[in-house]
Amino acid sequence: MPQLGIEIVGPSGRHGDFRSQACRWEVRLGVISEPENIKAILSTQFNDFELGPKRYRDFSPFLGNGIFTIDGPAWKHSRELLRPNFTKLQLDSNLDTLEVHVEHLLAKIPRDRSTVDLQQLFFKLTMDASTEFLFGVSTNSLLSTSQDFGEAFSAAFEEAQWGVSLRPRLGKLNDFYTNRTFIQACKVVHQFVDELVQRALSSSKALNAEKSSYCFLQELAKDVKDRQELRDHAINILIAGRDTTAGLLATTFFILARRHDVWTELRRSVETLQGRKPKLEELKDMKYLQFILKEVLRLYPTTPLNNRHAARDTSLPVGGGPDGKSRVLIRKNQRVTYAVYAMHRREDLFGSDAAEFRPERWETLRPGWNYLPFNGGPRTCLGQQFALTESAYVIVRLMQEFSDIEARDSAPFTEMLVLHT
Ligand code: HEM
Repeated sequence: MPQLGIEIVGPSGRHGDFRSQACRWEVRLGVISEPENIKAILSTQFNDFELGPKRYRDFSPFLGNGIFTIDGPAWKHSRELLRPNFTKLQLDSNLDTLEVHVEHLLAKIPRDRSTVDLQQLFFKLTMDASTEFLFGVSTNSLLSTSQDFGEAFSAAFEEAQWGVSLRPRLGKLNDFYTNRTFIQACKVVHQFVDELVQRALSSSKALNAEKSSYCFLQELAKDVKDRQELRDHAINILIAGRDTTAGLLATTFFILARRHDVWTELRRSVETLQGRKPKLEELKDMKYLQFILKEVLRLYPTTPLNNRHAARDTSLPVGGGPDGKSRVLIRKNQRVTYAVYAMHRREDLFGSDAAEFRPERWETLRPGWNYLPFNGGPRTCLGQQFALTESAYVIVRLMQEFSDIEARDSAPFTEMLVLHT
């Protein structure tokens, strides 16, 4: 018989040392960082777990029935529908579209060594580029003369996202609290997207037919005719790709500004391009750059914590019994949180220097279920290649324009929590 229990995540990210004393506490918390158990939840026992009703309750007022809120056959349908469009998004020609927005970004960075907040600019960049790829119309928030669409949409999107992030914290209190600003922001975003959906549906030509680049919504409208469904897909993809990529870029530059050795080494590979704008294949071949991105996502995963609900009584492979090697029982509806952040910093998995930023480790590291910045299994991130290409391109272009970087504040790295369930 499996035993009731859950594995332990210790304060330093190591686990298992004080299992017996803390067991009751950990059962309540239900936080795990064991690769074998995470693999079971996300892959081998995929059907035993789901996102659960709370995610739907909290996210659906903004995200509707989108890929981030739904389970079962509805999710499978969404995934099958969206996946082919992500393959097309990878085309080399999309880098030309991205370049337009990178140039807007470059124009916002002062050349007289005065201080600039790159993080804010990265958030604008990813909003501008994502809306262009998704809708064929960009918010162009990096342009000083941004159009009405840009400002109103970006502000409402941020407000709605903030509102969504508050809902899980309020829990049952949501029933007694009407967040009017949130409701209004959702309305504005929905109206904007509805107009673009309408255009995509009614036009047989591409929304951005005058340009050669790819428009996600237009492609999707070839298969989906339901307006609400198209709107939900579009908003879910925007929320999936925007902050995550901006966060990766901001963290990378936070580190580059403090690690002159890493900056110098990276410059060497950027210089091999001799000032040319990088092509997709060239970005993939820049090994040190890829190592840096992997290392940033190891130490600072964009989704540090995630969770699933048990759809039925089940068990996980390890963590039970006096020695922690037996299976552990998970009751139906029990929430299991998996801590990717803690797992990525475990010394038994990444070595005694696990807490150090060392891109070179990726020369020999071949991780499996112990490295999950993009999740794993059937619900693995659909935008992984897109995000890595976009980030790599932006980093290279910035380094081609600026020969050095300097940290202008002494504050320690501080995370910002955006969405959680
Ligand atoms: C550094 C950038 C990114 C990171 C670290 C990241 C990470 C993740 C993670 C951890 C999940 C799993 C969420 C869950 O199941 O609870 C996920 C799912 C997803 N991501 Fe990403 N993501 C990134 C960028 C993007 C981009 C740019 C897009 C789209 C343009 C995207 C589209 C998606 C979609 C559609 C899903 C849902 C997959 C499903 O449920 O079947 N992501 N991502």
